[in-house]
Amino acid sequence: MNDALELLKSRRSIRKYKNQPVEEEKIQKCLEAAQWAPSASNKQPWEFLIVTEERIRQKLSEIHPYAKFVAESPVVFVPLTNPDVHQKYHMSDSALATLQFMIEAHSLGLGTCWAGVIGASIEPEIKELLGVPEHLNVLGLVATGYAGEEPTRTRKELDTLVHYEKY
Ligand SMILES: Cc1cc2nc3c(=O)[nH]c(=O)nc-3n(C[C@H](O)[C@H](O)[C@H](O)COP(=O)(O)O)c2cc1C
Repeated sequence: MNDALELLKSRRSIRKYKNQPVEEEKIQKCLEAAQWAPSASNKQPWEFLIVTEERIRQKLSEIHPYAKFVAESPVVFVPLTNPDVHQKYHMSDSALATLQFMIEAHSLGLGTCWAGVIGASIEPEIKELLGVPEHLNVLGLVATGYAGEEPTRTRKELDTLVHYEKY
């Protein structure tokens, strides 16, 4: 098994996309990666929605103030959380599934960008547009497609974050 560190460090949030369709098999693999995320008590409190229709992506980009790029990305992965399945961990578990989708996408040469939705004032409008049932939450919108940019990012230094043995 290969060390994942280089893969993890080279993933960037992509906000510009090429006008190039994404192969169905790649999306299927990303969905499988999400399916295999760890979850508290293995409850898997998630469902997934894939949006490709241009008209809907355009509407999503109009509703979400910080996700204009979903109009451009050919695929939008929409992770849904189910609090009825696990009240306490529905959000963290679904976030892990979302990250696994994004990491698999990156390993297949695809870019992604997660735009947060859950708890925001726009969530009901997005739910209605996508026909999401009342009992589910929309965790976010994950733009997915071939990257049209190569952004760079920094991180806080580890020695400002890490404590050993005691804080
Ligand atoms: C929960 C969550 C919500 C985010 N929401 C947005 C968003 O609404 N719009 C956006 O452009 N990026 C969004 N991002 C992406 C972050 O800005 C990005 O991950 C961060 O700047 C670090 O950059 P990197 O992913 O390239 O390392 C979000 C990321 C997370 C995890």
